[in-house]
Amino acid sequence: MAIQQSPLTGPGFGRVLFSILSVSALISTSICDAPYPREQKPLLSFDSYSLNEQGHVKLGEAFSLQDIFHHGTYQYPNLHKHISIPKSEESSWVENSELPGLNGPLIARSRPMKIERLKDRRPSIIEPMISAAQEDGKFWSNSDPAAWTVDHLIGPDVTDKETILTLARMSANSYQPKPGQGDWTDVGSGFNESADFGWENDGIRGYVYANEDGSIVTISFKGGTPQLGWMGGPTSSNDRDNVNLLFSCCCGQGSFLAQKVCSCATFGFFSGRVCNSSCVGQCLKAEERYYPAAQHIYSNVSAFYPNAEIWVTGHSLGGTLSSLLGLTYGLPAVTIETPPEALPAGRLGLPAPPGSGTMQTRNNTGAYHFGITSDPIYMGRCKGLAASCALAGYAFDSVCHTGMKCVYDVVKDFGWWSSISTHGIVTVIQDVIMKYESVPVCEPAPECQDCSSWKEFHGSLTSSKTSKPTTTCHSPR
Ligand SMILES: *[C@@H]1O[C@H](CO)[C@@H](O)[C@H](O)[C@H]1NC(C)=O
Ligand SMILES: *[C@@H]1O[C@H](CO)[C@@H](O)[C@H](O)[C@H]1NC(C)=O
Ligand SMILES: *[C@@H]1O[C@H](CO)[C@@H](O)[C@H](O)[C@H]1NC(C)=O
Ligand SMILES: *[C@@H]1O[C@H](CO)[C@@H](O)[C@H](O)[C@H]1NC(C)=O
Repeated sequence: MAIQQSPLTGPGFGRVLFSILSVSALISTSICDAPYPREQKPLLSFDSYSLNEQGHVKLGEAFSLQDIFHHGTYQYPNLHKHISIPKSEESSWVENSELPGLNGPLIARSRPMKIERLKDRRPSIIEPMISAAQEDGKFWSNSDPAAWTVDHLIGPDVTDKETILTLARMSANSYQPKPGQGDWTDVGSGFNESADFGWENDGIRGYVYANEDGSIVTISFKGGTPQLGWMGGPTSSNDRDNVNLLFSCCCGQGSFLAQKVCSCATFGFFSGRVCNSSCVGQCLKAEERYYPAAQHIYSNVSAFYPNAEIWVTGHSLGGTLSSLLGLTYGLPAVTIETPPEALPAGRLGLPAPPGSGTMQTRNNTGAYHFGITSDPIYMGRCKGLAASCALAGYAFDSVCHTGMKCVYDVVKDFGWWSSISTHGIVTVIQDVIMKYESVPVCEPAPECQDCSSWKEFHGSLTSSKTSKPTTTCHSPR
């Protein structure tokens, strides 16, 4: 190894040494081969450790890719496939041609985290409650406080740069195995591959990474678009429909350019703009949409790894899915450049303890949203007729995130301009996360307000009109 000749001093030493150690820990477990002088003890510099709340030193752990789950959406809503990654190939699956020089082991540290969540989080228990909350806006505030608990669990260390870099790299995974390639098995209702060629462009993928003893499993969610972003790509109209359902005040209704994806809004001279939130929630849960696809993946992963702590992560729309799942099942979620997602969380009727107010005023959610000030999508500024988002038919109206926001101020620190071109994960990894010495402090933003020019209601205001959700939610074209 050429690196053995390099000087053993200087600021980068601890980090370089640490990554050598983690590589050798993966390969051989012996660290004694390295010809370092004995005086160099302790071998690891202090910044290679992190302290947990009890003052115990916790070393980073290497995560490796174990499985990929794929769930279809528009074209193939019944497609549900799984592939497990052979041990011998794990490392090659981490390579990302867009991130040269960043193919080393995925090291993440953990630290104690408090999450307020339902005691019984089985999907079969939570599902009907969410459906009830979608119909009845007061469902959770009237629910029994005894059903809730504040759990102390092992979460990702969101104060640690290498951990955030690792989660971002997991979110950037671009490897797309195809149906004929590798040993996909069907975990759904039986899918005819020969009839349905081309499924890799449709649907949601969950990349499952585990630490060495399998006690922590991270799912990184990714939408089907091959581009590491949203604009362009074969599934972008599917993405756009989901975006407008998720982040617009009422599915793109009331905007000239946005693609309308439901009929849940009414406009009146006296009443103004009114959105039926239950109606939007129902459209979001239609089987071909992204949230249900991510739920299927989660329910399989939790069945495959029944004793593991599950973390979720993702970039952009993948980040939104991870956050929505985190709020559904009470999981730690770290997102990168996700658009403000408190609005869809409320519309889906996701769990919130009684007395917690809105989705953005909830404490101890376990959700951490990393992003940069130059990205209009993360900042909730991609709106108005002149914005590039509207021109592409996207309706981003929401401005509030749930949980904590961890903001890199690249506008102030680097003089960057606000531009959608800074939204991509490669930019964020190479030019932001790696460039900063440390990660930003995470803070809540409870004063935030979404869609103040709209009124919204849950369920039936009047029982005069009943419309079937199938006609209310516009089908994909
Ligand atoms: C799969 O699709 C092909 C082509 O349409 C068809 O010939 C075949 O019978 C189908 N197989 C099954 C199991 O449905
Ligand atoms: C995986 O999820 C699908 C759809 O939710 C379900 O039908 C299947 O039984 C699950 N398989 C396992 C092994 O959990
Ligand atoms: C969240 O925590 C803050 C600070 O401790 C507190 O002021 C606020 O009331 C809490 N909000 C809720 C909804 O519990
Ligand atoms: C709102 O939407 C829900 C679900 O689609 C529907 O049952 C309800 O009747 C709607 N309310 C009104 C006033 O249209």
